This record gives sequence, C-alpha cells and structure tokens, in this order.
Amino acid sequence: MNILVVGSGGREHTLAWKLSQSKKCQNLYIAPGNAGTGSVAQNVPIDAGDFEGIKNLILEKEIELVVVGPEVPLVDGIRDYLLSHEKLEKLKIVGPGKEGAQLEGSKDYAKRFMQKHGIPTAASKTFTKEALAEAVEYLKTVKMPIVLKADGLAAGKGVIICKNLKEANSTLDKMLTKSMFGSASHRVVIEEFLSGIELSVFVLTDGKSYKILPEAKDYKPIGENNTGPNTGGMGSISPVNFAQGDFLEKVEKRIIIPTVEGLKKEHIDYQGFIFIGLMNVHGDPYVIEYNVRMGDPETQVVMPRINNDLIDLMEATADGKLSEYALDIDPKTASTVVMVAGGYPDTYDKGEIINGLATPSDHSIVFHAGTKRSGNDIVTNGGRVLAVTGLGDNMQEALDRSYNLVSNIHWNNVYFRKDIGHDLMSME
Ligand code: AMP
Ligand code: GLY
Repeated sequence: MNILVVGSGGREHTLAWKLSQSKKCQNLYIAPGNAGTGSVAQNVPIDAGDFEGIKNLILEKEIELVVVGPEVPLVDGIRDYLLSHEKLEKLKIVGPGKEGAQLEGSKDYAKRFMQKHGIPTAASKTFTKEALAEAVEYLKTVKMPIVLKADGLAAGKGVIICKNLKEANSTLDKMLTKSMFGSASHRVVIEEFLSGIELSVFVLTDGKSYKILPEAKDYKPIGENNTGPNTGGMGSISPVNFAQGDFLEKVEKRIIIPTVEGLKKEHIDYQGFIFIGLMNVHGDPYVIEYNVRMGDPETQVVMPRINNDLIDLMEATADGKLSEYALDIDPKTASTVVMVAGGYPDTYDKGEIINGLATPSDHSIVFHAGTKRSGNDIVTNGGRVLAVTGLGDNMQEALDRSYNLVSNIHWNNVYFRKDIGHDLMSME
C-alpha cells in the first residue's frame, strides 16, 4: 500500500517510523517531512497547507491511505477537500473533517459540545469584542485565578492564566480589541481555573467505536520544575502512574464514551485521533481541551508502546472496523526528552550543525522535529529540534536510555530539561 503522512515535526517522524515497519508498506511519502523522516519515508517538498499539491501527489503516486499529523490542515478542511475530488472518493484518511475538527479549531464549539453532552469541564462563558463591557462585568463576579482562552488556533499559545482582576481585564482587552492572537482571539472563552495534575489521553475512533491508546504526560514549560513560559512540549512519559485503574475508568465512562456518542448524535463522521487534555482534580477527570490529532511530543512515547501494525490500525479506523480490532500495548515505559534551540520559545538561531546523531537501537530512538539537510550535515531548523525516546522496564531505565543518547548529541546553544519524569518518579 502507498501511504502519505502530512506534516513535518517529531509527531510525523514517529508516525512515519511506525508505519514504515509494516509489511504492507510499499511506498511511504511524507509532505514535507524533515531530515529524519528521510530515513524512513520519501520526503516530498509540499507544504501541509498546499491541499492542491497534496491532492496531485496522491493521484500521481496512487496513494491509498493518508495520515494527517497537524491540526491546521484538519481545521482548514483537508479531509473534505480531498474526498470531494471524484477520483478520491475511496481514499482512506485518518483525521476528521472540518466540522469534527472544530473540537480543536474553536474552544467555544468544544465547550458547547461538552455542555450539551454532559462531559465534565470547567465552567465558562464566551464573549466577543462587541460584548466587551459584559465580559468586564462578568470578570468582577468570578474567582481568581481565571483562565482566558483565545477561541481559535494559536499554536498552543492562546491560553493565559490571570492571577488577579487587573491582569484579567488588561489581558481580555488585548485579546479582544488588540488582536493579541490575531483573529483567533476575537472571541474569548473565560474559564474557571482548575487545580490538579494534567495528563493526556488518546483515543482513536472510526465514528462508531473507539480504542484507548496509551496515556501520556507532557512537560510544557521551558524550565526545570515547570517554570518559565510554555512551549510545544519539552518531554513526555507513558504510562502515567497516577492514571490507572479507577481514574481511567472514570475517564472512559464520563468523557470518552459521551464524546464518541456526542459525535454520533451530531452526525459528525469522525475518523481519527482525539487527544483529550485532562485535569485530575482530586481523582475526578475534567476536560481542559480537545485536540483532533496526536500530541507532540506525546506521539513519541505512545507509538513505541503500540505493538500492532500501524497500517492495520489506521486502515481499521478509516474503514470503520475498529470494533473488530484488538490493541496490543507494550507494558514498558517510554520517555522522550526534547532538545531545543537555545532561546526557544522566544527567538533562536537556525542552521546549527548537529553532531553525534546516533543510530537508533531497540530501546532508544532519535525522532527529528526541526531539522533539515544542508550538504552532508544535518542542521537545526526550528525551536524544537529533536525528541529522544527511551524504552525501559521502568521509568528510570527509560529515562537513562533517553538521557544517554541525549548526552552524545551536540550543537551550539542546545538546551533540554534534565528533570523529565522527576515529578512522576516521586509519586512511585
Ligand atoms: P490548552 O492550550 O487548552 O492546552 O491550555 C494550555 C495550558 O493551560 C494547559 O495545559 C493547562 O496547563 C492550562 N489550562 C488550560 N485550561 C485550564 C483551566 N481551566 N484550569 C487550569 N489550567 C488550565
Ligand atoms: N504536546 C501538546 C500538543 O501536542 O498540543
């Protein structure tokens, strides 16, 4: 089978790495990919937003299965666009259509969906610019801290936690009237602050049935002990020790089942991943956000723990046959440590030569995120550059394997967190 992965980050390298291991894999393409994906797939220089270019590639290379990595093309309707072509009606696509992708594309849509289907989430109200005065009045009535969220996509940056009323008023004004996050913040969700421990749960659904993939915890802040500004993710761990048994049962019963049933009730034909960001508040799960794709860097710890053939699993999803499918999950622990360019998430340099990239072994793998080839060198080409995954019989072994590989890799101004997993280890 000929397959296409859309995207260019560590998540897409991981998906391509796993797809390439399948016996069914004939030609695997990735658009546009990075220096690492070139070793498991054929990079094609077409941007994830170039729907026409992607459509032509699919027709030319007789691609039967497409796995869409990032949220932007999904929210922009890549699925609907491809399937509307008369020759592509039978194309198998993992990733929801425009309507389903609203679960991530609009926080207000997601909140209304959860409220309608009785899914536990923080109390909230949505305001537009025209209702600024009303929003200011509303802020006077809420408890601090309070969370302000840009309604639209903001590359993971659109959420601001405000400590007091003054901060909340000024942030609200910047978001609604000064386009702090462009048009994404022309509508703002004001949401109750939830205090607890976060984790991510991943679900694969074919629109009728679902499978729960391994859960993961990611480390968003740039600094050790979770200090400093948020990033796309500095590391991740799977499984998450506090999220077993009872808690996961609550997640399935209160969140996953009503989410899949809600999609059905709304006639949203959803084939793809649902990434549910959760807060564990004293043992009860609340949804913080839905994403309509896998997480990055969570994919780098989730995929290595799935023993199944990923092409089979993706086909079962696209064909509506997930209920017949049995997942086989590796009990091992996986950790990933993200190596970033110094200065990220603010300004940083690109084009630094990366030295010491080792060949992957059975229990450690280097996934590329922001890299590209430059002559004979591989150079940095983004803020998050590499994600180094280790697998072990326990968290310590997994982390040792990640950090051993990390210690061999160098470039000017490289930075990574040295405390990935430490908080979970102290809970063991
Ligand atoms: P999001 O982009 O929705 O994932 O939000 C970014 C981060 O903001 C989350 O990972 C949480 O750490 C935090 N956050 C979002 N919503 C809330 C909330 N209601 N209460 C507390 N923290 C939140
Ligand atoms: N790691 C968070 C995300 O992928 O959105």
